[in-house]
Amino acid sequence: MSEQDVELEARLAEQDEFEPPGSFVEQANVTDPSIYDESADDWPACWEDAATLLDWSTEYEQVLDDSNPPFYEWFTGGELNASANCLDRHLDERGDETAIEWVGELGDTRTYTYRDLHREVNEFAATLRDQGVEADDVVTLYMPMVPELPIAMLACARLGAPHSVVFAGFSANALATRMESADSPVLVTCDGYYRRGEALEHKLKADEGVAAVEHDVTGVVIDRLGDEYEHSMREADHDYDTLIADHEGEKVEPVTRDAEDMLFLMYTSGTTGEPKGVKHTTGGYLSWVAWTSHAVLDVKPEDTYWCSADIGWITGHSYIVYGPLALGTTTVMYEGTPDYPEKDRLWEIVEEYDVTQLYTAPTAIRSFMKWGEEYPARHDLSSLRLLGTVGEPINPRAWKWYYRNIGGESCPVVDTWWQTETGGLMVTTLPGVNSMKPGSAGPPLPGIGSRIVDTDGEEVAAGRAGHLTIQKPWPGMLRTLYQNDERFIEEYWAEYSDTDSGDPDDWVYFPGDGAKIDDDGYLTILGRVDDVVNISGHRLGTMEIESAIVSVEGVAEAAVVGGDHEVKGETVYAYVITEDGYAGDDEMQDAIIAGVEDGIGPIARPEEVVFTPELPKTRSGKIMRRLLEDVANREEVGSTNTLRNPEIVDEIQRQVGGAD
Ligand code: PRX
Repeated sequence: MSEQDVELEARLAEQDEFEPPGSFVEQANVTDPSIYDESADDWPACWEDAATLLDWSTEYEQVLDDSNPPFYEWFTGGELNASANCLDRHLDERGDETAIEWVGELGDTRTYTYRDLHREVNEFAATLRDQGVEADDVVTLYMPMVPELPIAMLACARLGAPHSVVFAGFSANALATRMESADSPVLVTCDGYYRRGEALEHKLKADEGVAAVEHDVTGVVIDRLGDEYEHSMREADHDYDTLIADHEGEKVEPVTRDAEDMLFLMYTSGTTGEPKGVKHTTGGYLSWVAWTSHAVLDVKPEDTYWCSADIGWITGHSYIVYGPLALGTTTVMYEGTPDYPEKDRLWEIVEEYDVTQLYTAPTAIRSFMKWGEEYPARHDLSSLRLLGTVGEPINPRAWKWYYRNIGGESCPVVDTWWQTETGGLMVTTLPGVNSMKPGSAGPPLPGIGSRIVDTDGEEVAAGRAGHLTIQKPWPGMLRTLYQNDERFIEEYWAEYSDTDSGDPDDWVYFPGDGAKIDDDGYLTILGRVDDVVNISGHRLGTMEIESAIVSVEGVAEAAVVGGDHEVKGETVYAYVITEDGYAGDDEMQDAIIAGVEDGIGPIARPEEVVFTPELPKTRSGKIMRRLLEDVANREEVGSTNTLRNPEIVDEIQRQVGGAD
């Protein structure tokens, strides 16, 4: 490092507040601080602005109907179609502009203009309609990052058929559970895809999943790998290319949807073993992702915007597909990993396409830091205007590394806190308005009434840790858990609401995160306070992993916790009791790892399996996970006073390697 660099590094290390760069503010979509002012109504003006970013076939009558909390309704009376908003309305002005710039892992590329995308979405909607898909049928999409994934999503939206995208890395078993839960009659999947240059078989997993579903499933199979790779076809499977060719040039009128009609379902992890089907609707969700893309990610039609998430998670839904396409911009989709063929792959893509915004996860940034600044330094990244992060807390060191080495100190960094359930961004700086404080996500967005409370629901003082709560509804919020209103109330509202009350002021949303607020109203998110772990920005329920482990033959009981990990943020530690006492061995360990991979997928794979004769339990029989976390983190363990078997903690600690 040159002397100048050392000086710069030292200066950055000390700086804890950064002003938005002037060059950014000059052109930003939102620059007026009065956006935070309360309006005369109960919601800020920008929420109506959000709705005006869309084309409605019938104007809404009421912004919010809060007469039946927590079942809030937004933009009631309004009608629209999401696919028409993402495609048709751009055709006149932007038909020949690029909608999707797709980059395959092997270097192959595909460019879809809005007109191309509109054509293929129509053709695929026509094929789905031919397969009998009607409004409100849930279509499952189990696909990697191929262009046919957003095409299928928009085709479903065109028909008013909610999609349920299942992350391609999830197992056959996870697919089956989700299809069964949604009673989904159609599966769109893929023969395979590339990971680090290797062709991965995907169709076998899909077949195995479908075989475990009780109802009949019609399949559509996309050929990503070409003729060289054979894949199975069930009798009820159809080849995507053949279907599209059969429907060449066909048009499907977008089905008019009520603002409150379901746009999609997205399963996410909760504190029990069963994944939750989060229901998002057409009007509120689409307005929220369009408005936040505009106000926070500063998306403009002429941009080449890139969110490097996978569409199999909410980030990809909201900020690769719906938000950017609703605004008529160019959205980049990359199939592969950031280190293939080399560790500068992302920077090569930024340079090649003149990417203007990059939205990624802290776990990726920690990898980039580890690999070294020479990789971004090989490329001209000056096209970048804004950087974003999502999915987990970003520490100030990683933030500053990103700001300096990727943004060249001229791009604001937006650290965005939100969740599958919130639909879109909730807590973050407005990059043209607020200064940034590395390590703190920022203030809640206008109208997002957040408060940090103690376990009695009392607001805590600035600087003190508490639970993050959201006191008011917002347009992008989940409407319920699919076919399970009771669990919806139980999971998100019961903790801090008066659930017998019909007054919306008595209803408080609890996202499950800890946080603290500073004197300027900036929130620092401290991570989950429930039994949910965050592995590389991916959310997994410890109970789900435990139930995969206890279904392995010979396992009697298991407790899973998250341990700190330098790159992944957290990693899975599994403490396991075998049926015959203490006889865990390598074979058993392999069986447990395989059990988790089969039950959920490789992302949930335990980093360490610790066999133990007992788990630390309180006198009432509750597992003390906090202690198990301390052990995983090689930290001094907290008080064991309330345990009925305190001696077991030492024993477990000995096995894991003890405190450093
Ligand atoms: O714990 C929070 C963490 O990710 C959780 C939501 O996970 P998921 O529904 O999978 O959505 C991830 C992408 C939106 C939250 O409850 N989280 C998300 N963003 C941040 C974060 N934690 C800290 N800072 C963030 N910016």
